[in-house]
Amino acid sequence: MEKIKICLVGAGRAGEVHGDVHFDFIPNSEIISVFDIDISKAKKLAAKYGVDERFAFYNYEDALSYSEFDAAIITTPTFTHCLYTEMSARKKIHVFCEKPMAITVEDCDKMINACKKGNVKLQLGFMRRFDSGFQKAKQLIKNNGIGEPIIIKSVGRGPGLPGKWAFDIKNSNGNLAEVNSHDFDSVRWLSESEYKKVYAVAKNSKSPEIGKEYPAFYDSAIVSVTMQNEIFGLIDSICPCDYGYDARMEVVGTKGVIFIGSLDEHTIITCTKEKGISSPQILSWKKRFHDAYIAEGRHFVDCIINDSEPMVTGSDGKHAVSIVIAANKSISKGSPVEL
Ligand SMILES: NC(=O)c1ccc[n+]([C@@H]2O[C@H](COP(=O)([O-])OP(=O)(O)OC[C@H]3O[C@@H](n4cnc5c(N)ncnc54)[C@H](O)[C@@H]3O)[C@@H](O)[C@H]2O)c1
Repeated sequence: MEKIKICLVGAGRAGEVHGDVHFDFIPNSEIISVFDIDISKAKKLAAKYGVDERFAFYNYEDALSYSEFDAAIITTPTFTHCLYTEMSARKKIHVFCEKPMAITVEDCDKMINACKKGNVKLQLGFMRRFDSGFQKAKQLIKNNGIGEPIIIKSVGRGPGLPGKWAFDIKNSNGNLAEVNSHDFDSVRWLSESEYKKVYAVAKNSKSPEIGKEYPAFYDSAIVSVTMQNEIFGLIDSICPCDYGYDARMEVVGTKGVIFIGSLDEHTIITCTKEKGISSPQILSWKKRFHDAYIAEGRHFVDCIINDSEPMVTGSDGKHAVSIVIAANKSISKGSPVEL
């Protein structure tokens, strides 16, 4: 069996999620090296996946020189995605890059061009597109199951804040990028249209201590969008969200409505006279989208083996970056922004 050799570029939360997926569920891929500027993290993940300590690196140049891999899974902070993608593509290494693709649209273009020039795949980490509920909704809309879509709502409330590097909006484009890139991608994907106009408001409701050091930081936002085909979208963002991981969508059409996702884990329901009916809620993105991460990883490997175009492309990543930048501009101007 042909095996795609992988280097994990980033050994944090997302790096481990992808590492687990490839190690446990994708037999035609093999993790052969791990890179992280924090060598202890690189070594820890290397050990977890049975990779010799010599192939844990703290410098990507060394990883590229001393381990022979076919593909890089990039899960370092957003502001590094462009650099590591360009370095990989120059060496003819296929790239899977986590969202948000980059901080600027110019960097997204550089990444797309580098991968084109190197003739390598570039897949973006919008795993919701691989979730069975999201896929069924997409099919239903295509088959006129709810008539013409009118409004698409997306709830994007993350349980825990990203790393401190993301508190500075200049480094990360804020929570709308870190948490809600997925919502922006889903609204665009399900509406089958591009963004035309955005109006966003945001505030720091729960994190005054972060606000002291980073005055532009926000943890709550509402974003209203109009698509080019006149579908309306509404994204709500809260992070940290104390009650769990809440990633639900609603598509209202001329003939019906689709609800995607649930707060409920659907594993157990308890009922007592004293407490009534209760069931556990979803607490983490890792669990909610576990199967989607596997399908996304398999797809990346299959695209390399079959030389086919990934379902989620650099262009998709770039559109999400554009709308996030426009939404942040709307927040600071206090008025709508045309794209
Ligand atoms: N698709 C998803 O569901 C999902 C979930 C979580 C995170 N992400 C994305 O993955 C990326 C990383 O997020 P995370 O939560 O894993 O962050 P994290 O802070 O847990 O991990 C980032 C890792 O990168 C390392 N690092 C920092 N600067 C570096 C540099 N210059 N070069 C190399 N390594 C460096 C850190 O040591 C750390 O181990 C972000 O872009 C984030 O938005 C996506």
